Amino acid sequence: MNILGVESSCDETGVALVSCEPGTTVPRLCAQALHTQIDMHQAYGGVVPELASRDHIRRVLPLARQVLADAGAQLADIDLVAYTRGPGLAGALLVGAGVACALAAALERPVLGVHHLEGHLLSPFLSADPPQFPFVALLVSGGHTQLMRVDDVASYELLGETIDDAAGEAFDKSAKLMGLGYPGGPALARLAEFGDADTFELPRPLLHSGNLDFSFAGLKTAVRTRLQKLGTNVCEQDRAHLAASTQQAIVDVLCAKSVAALKQTGLKRLVVAGGVGANARLRAQLNAECAKRQARVHYPELALCTDNGAMIALAAAMRWQRGLATPQRDHAFDVRPRWALQAA
Ligand code: KG4
Ligand code: ZN
Repeated sequence: MNILGVESSCDETGVALVSCEPGTTVPRLCAQALHTQIDMHQAYGGVVPELASRDHIRRVLPLARQVLADAGAQLADIDLVAYTRGPGLAGALLVGAGVACALAAALERPVLGVHHLEGHLLSPFLSADPPQFPFVALLVSGGHTQLMRVDDVASYELLGETIDDAAGEAFDKSAKLMGLGYPGGPALARLAEFGDADTFELPRPLLHSGNLDFSFAGLKTAVRTRLQKLGTNVCEQDRAHLAASTQQAIVDVLCAKSVAALKQTGLKRLVVAGGVGANARLRAQLNAECAKRQARVHYPELALCTDNGAMIALAAAMRWQRGLATPQRDHAFDVRPRWALQAA
């Protein structure tokens, strides 16, 4: 069974081919290709939805051709076409959905709409050290911050989530305030390497709230206030200290809540997924905290932390293996810009 996956929910066009057998063996990634729009959006300091959609249109078919060539496969070898149905930018989602459904119709194959966060959540299964069910998942992307209990594919229980900004948003907005480029997360993390995280005291919102919810909007405000105090001529060293202090505040909260989720569920496995999962400081601290508690942490390969087509093909494959996929055969498509994972 060969599954072509198409991701176009935000600012990355991703296409990949995954093959799988019935049952629970881990699907295999045959080939993948990605185009990131970062350079295009950089001039605007964030994603411009209309530009994103237009660029997906330009990229998706050449990427699909490249994937098939790299995999040594033909169009006729595709058994199922999967695409990101949501959540994401409506126009961007429509491009991937339109292409996937047209391709499936032309090939007379079924098509399956996939939840973007399910893709992120399952992406560690493509790593050299795949997890086993059940586990706690920390989903940390530009738009979402959630802790889930995952018993199997399609068995997701929300344990806690952000009540305002997502962790990635906290990175991005703080980075913007500091005059760093877009996307802010990697830029802020790079600058933080030169700073001391103990220099500036920043809040750890909801750290002691007693539940598993997050809040990051106040942190961004604290960063703004601190910058105002430092004045317009803030030196490079203080900027680095502030970057390190900001990163540490976000990481401390994510770690504490992840550990609390493991305690609450009694589980000993944590899966970290989404763009912020690429953060080295977060990985180091989670590894240390979990080692203390004899818990294991699993991450996607670094290249699969941010958006990609492989995770979409993978999620479709894992659903199909378990008889959970009800592919659309009429090729009529819809997208869901807002869509809760538990409803997928
Ligand atoms: O999962 P993703 O690629 O897209 C969404 O579905 O949102 O996540 C993108 C987010 C952005 O907020 C970006 O700044 C953040 O992930 N990010 C990072 C790092 N790499 C990406 N944040 C902190 N440290 C990183 N190394
Ligand atoms: Zn994502």
